[in-house]
Amino acid sequence: MLDSYNRNINYLRISVTDRCNLRCTYCMPAEGINLIEHDKVLKFEEIVEFTRVAVAKGINKVRLTGGEPLVRKGIVDLVKMLAEIKGINDLGMTTNGILLPKYAKDLKKAGLGRVNVSLDTLHPLKFKAVTRGGELHDVLVGIEAAKEAGLNPVKINTVIKKDIHEPDAAELAEWAERNDVQIRFISQMDLEKGKFGIVHGGTGGDCKICNRLRLTSDGYIKPCLFNDAGISIREVPYEEAFEQAIQLKPKCGESASTNKFYNMGG
Ligand code: 5AD
Ligand code: SF4
Repeated sequence: MLDSYNRNINYLRISVTDRCNLRCTYCMPAEGINLIEHDKVLKFEEIVEFTRVAVAKGINKVRLTGGEPLVRKGIVDLVKMLAEIKGINDLGMTTNGILLPKYAKDLKKAGLGRVNVSLDTLHPLKFKAVTRGGELHDVLVGIEAAKEAGLNPVKINTVIKKDIHEPDAAELAEWAERNDVQIRFISQMDLEKGKFGIVHGGTGGDCKICNRLRLTSDGYIKPCLFNDAGISIREVPYEEAFEQAIQLKPKCGESASTNKFYNMGG
């Protein structure tokens, strides 16, 4: 479906949880977050039904995000339910990779196409610092598991502070090449201050060609990461909510005070 600026909206990003097994400094506050209450979190049936309606309206690409999608109980079943919807030709997931050793094979079997794994440094101590406690080794094993399972492509998302030449980014670029995975660099953003960066090697962050809508884990369909607009899919019928979100899609994002990376999934 076309929005008011003639962009074809065909990409739906679904945040399945605001919970995460890491606490990246640029994503979550140190003191933790007020987690969404369990009964407010969308049920699988709601996610799947909404997606079905969205697909009928032109969505053909779906990505699961979080928080960390793999900490949502039953995630493999959700993937399976979504994979059965005819009309989705690209079903992916953005994950921190920690749980991929456990789930990669089952995700592939359930119909997941590809994964993006977030990884900002190859130094175990730096990784521990940036994620506030994570083990780098788990992620590296996770990336291998994803490749072995046949998830394809496996891409790395690297958040950069300044530019792609900073040491961690440069090391990761070289590592990615050696390990036969693609890599994209995302400038660190600040949603409240309206600081949004482009994605080097990806399509995010370029308003002119933005083709996405976002569904939050508590049931709001949102036209833009950098805009507070959102429509509750529990209060407005799915089809209408979807159409309203497209109509509300701004020409370009500005800033948002309610959106957070842990509930919008980047
Ligand atoms: N700026 C840029 N990217 C971010 N992510 C999380 N927080 C931020 C931020 N402040 C990224 C994660 C992950 C994706 C879902 O969003 O690193 O790759
Ligand atoms: Fe978790 Fe991803 Fe946020 Fe890190 S960036 S705390 S892995 S949701």
